[in-house]
Amino acid sequence: PQGRVEVLSVIDSTNQYLLERITELQSGDACVAEYQQAGRGRRGRKWVSPFGTNLYLSMYWKLDQGPAAAMGLSLVIGIVMTEVLQRLGAADVRVKWPNDLYLKDRKLAGILVELTGKTGDAAHLVIGAGINLRMREPATDVINQGWINLQEAGIDIDRNELSITLLQELSAGLREFEQQGLTPFIPRWRNLDNFLDRPVKLLIGEKEIQGIERGIDQQGALLLEQDGEIKSFIGGEISLRGQ
Ligand code: ATP
Ligand code: BTN
Repeated sequence: PQGRVEVLSVIDSTNQYLLERITELQSGDACVAEYQQAGRGRRGRKWVSPFGTNLYLSMYWKLDQGPAAAMGLSLVIGIVMTEVLQRLGAADVRVKWPNDLYLKDRKLAGILVELTGKTGDAAHLVIGAGINLRMREPATDVINQGWINLQEAGIDIDRNELSITLLQELSAGLREFEQQGLTPFIPRWRNLDNFLDRPVKLLIGEKEIQGIERGIDQQGALLLEQDGEIKSFIGGEISLRGQ
């Protein structure tokens, strides 16, 4: 990788660690940890992060286009991670909109992008990724959806090699996104979309919407077909599930 990589043993959250140091960082700087005491997902949810058996990685990136571009960018991260895992031997990994990785219809990895920066200014992003490698059923925590790890699928990928390759390819993918936008990534997403043309439901707060998933549009919004009509959905409050 171009940046510095800090290897930590125990930390609250690798995202939090970089956020606290954000003014000292340059694009591509990263950290990994063995264990997170307070690993987090979206909207205050928890990311189960036992010692030694998974990958917890965060990388800093300054996005000159500003916070509005972050939505497309988070799809790019999922695409790049999925392509890296496929190349290293996990051929069946797929993306789930907006930014989870799935294997055998279960959650393998999560991505959390946190950012600071005002509209009109550059955005300062911390990109966090957790990938389950060999995690066993958590003793105290409950994961309230189907999940999987690579070992269960018979896949053995060296964690150091995975970390380094991810950091390199994420930097390359983010630079491509900065220069060309989301357009070159749309066909790549289509290739990797776990739920393309399948019946899904969207959970939006208390509301549930059912339809057929039809991929993403040029902005990265999710396309859902209902009664022959295609509607687009955008934003962070939506969770997609298979039916
Ligand atoms: P979305 O589908 O929109 O991503 P989500 O319900 O998956 O929503 P997130 O905030 O993205 O919510 O992810 C946190 C959720 O991921 C937790 O609520 C839990 O269900 C699940 N989870 C937590 N730790 C792990 C883990 N190590 N592996 C797989 N799933 C996990
Ligand atoms: C999600 O699916 O909600 C995203 C989970 C993101 C987990 C990773 S693990 C490394 C980084 N540090 C955190 O606290 N969260 C992210």
